[in-house]
Amino acid sequence: MTLYAAVGGSATFRTLVERFYAAVESDPLLRPLYPEQDLSSATERLTLFLIQYWGGPNTYSALRGHPRLRLRHQPFAIGQAARDAWLKHMTAAVDSLDLSPEVRKELLDYFDTTSTAMINQR
Ligand code: HEM
Repeated sequence: MTLYAAVGGSATFRTLVERFYAAVESDPLLRPLYPEQDLSSATERLTLFLIQYWGGPNTYSALRGHPRLRLRHQPFAIGQAARDAWLKHMTAAVDSLDLSPEVRKELLDYFDTTSTAMINQR
């Protein structure tokens, strides 16, 4: 079974990313990095990406092409502090869901590694 199926499908990812972006919205370090006034498109892109990554429908790539995440983050100055703030909010969003310990750990390990990989400045 995919993690996507194990968490009950897209609704869990929608809730996760909505909660995550609600926190980004009021974070003085992270919010200025997001070019758009309205975070709803960013919310949609991250939601579709995670759904695809964890084994759900490939809608993200149908709309956006290959993820190329590091390249897509290049325009934004992401240092250690921004990465730590991002991971803190994502960890809180993961912990707000009612997940099994195994699924929780799999998600947090992934976000830990991937957020570190997005660092592109000292
Ligand atoms: C390390 C801290 C991170 C920061 C500060 C950051 C910041 C941003 C910003 C400013 C955008 C542009 C908003 C948009 O147009 O969607 C973005 C897009 C995106 N981010 Fe991040 N990000 C981080 C980590 C991550 C991680 C770990 C992932 C995946 C697990 C991720 C996935 C995405 C995706 C899928 C998009 C949309 C790409 C597209 O289709 O254009 N980001 N991020």
